[in-house]
Amino acid sequence: MKKKLLNILCCPDCRNTLALLAIKEANGEVEEGELQCETCKKIYPVLRFIPRFVPSENYADNFGFQWNQFRKTQLDSHTGKPIARDRFLTRYGDALLDFSGRMVLDVGCGAGRNSEVALSMGANLVAVDYSSAVDACWENLRSFPQLNVVQADIYHLPFKAASFDSVYCFGVLQHTPDVEKAFKALPAQLKAGAKLFVDVYPRLLLNIFWPKYWIRPFTKGIPPDRLFPIVQSMVKFLFPISIALGRIPYIGRKLRYAIPVLNYEGIFPLTMTQLKEWALLDTFDMLSPHHDHPQSETTLRRWFEEEGLKDIKVFRSGFIIGHGTKPESL
Ligand SMILES: C[S@@+](CC[C@H](N)C(=O)[O-])C[C@H]1O[C@@H](n2cnc3c(N)ncnc32)[C@H](O)[C@@H]1O
Ligand SMILES: [Zn+2]
Repeated sequence: MKKKLLNILCCPDCRNTLALLAIKEANGEVEEGELQCETCKKIYPVLRFIPRFVPSENYADNFGFQWNQFRKTQLDSHTGKPIARDRFLTRYGDALLDFSGRMVLDVGCGAGRNSEVALSMGANLVAVDYSSAVDACWENLRSFPQLNVVQADIYHLPFKAASFDSVYCFGVLQHTPDVEKAFKALPAQLKAGAKLFVDVYPRLLLNIFWPKYWIRPFTKGIPPDRLFPIVQSMVKFLFPISIALGRIPYIGRKLRYAIPVLNYEGIFPLTMTQLKEWALLDTFDMLSPHHDHPQSETTLRRWFEEEGLKDIKVFRSGFIIGHGTKPESL
């Protein structure tokens, strides 16, 4: 943890100032220490360079398992392809991507594929996740001097109001227990004139035909270390079938939805080894989360409006993507 992060940190409970007791420092950062709220006196540990504001076990443990198991899989620096970058640019749309020197918040960073993109564009980044994915993100990106990683809950973010020039939250909202409440926790983080970017799984009638939603009731409660070998066996058996189906002209892409294994052939420029690794990661990502709550475009737009954001844009590009700007007067 960089000491200057204290300028924007606050107690997630009573929102007052925190004092830092550094116990061990390395490379100019706090490796181990404690943050104590000067008002309510709660203590939050700093462990392995990361301030921790949540219990070490929580509903997102599956994500902690997944992102530590597949720490580098989806990072552009690992695949050598600008997949995360393109995904990020689609989500930012035509918004000005002038990140240099700006404070940017990545909510639900996972292993940091989006963080890597934002950092490489010069952002002063704060990457937050509820799970032990923060350890994977830190390990992956610690060579960027502008990186800060914090383990915290979207519902109780430990930052002073209006600390950020840009806030994004990709691949996260549908995996929280109350999606509306999670969304509505974000605008408070924006400075006046700053923009919020989110995405969410689309709520479609077709979802009822997707085997993913038939299997999830049985898999979502299985502890990650027990579910993982099951998913490994599934992928080993079903991935070749999905590849064969997917190659059928015209209807192949649609047919492979019948197989509950993720297959990105023809979507991302990955080698067969990478496709298999992504299939394993994303099939686990599909079956393990406790929460999976898709939303409609209308609902997402309404939330932006209820939060008083302006220049709202909500559109479909695989996911439903939304932008909005905090007015100067809010
Ligand atoms: C599907 S992953 C997406 C990770 C990353 N944004 C990406 O696109 O690669 C969802 C992430 O949301 C995090 N998450 C879930 N609930 C959260 C919460 N209440 N607060 C913060 N992060 C949360 C999970 O731990 C997980 O790492
Ligand atoms: Zn406090």
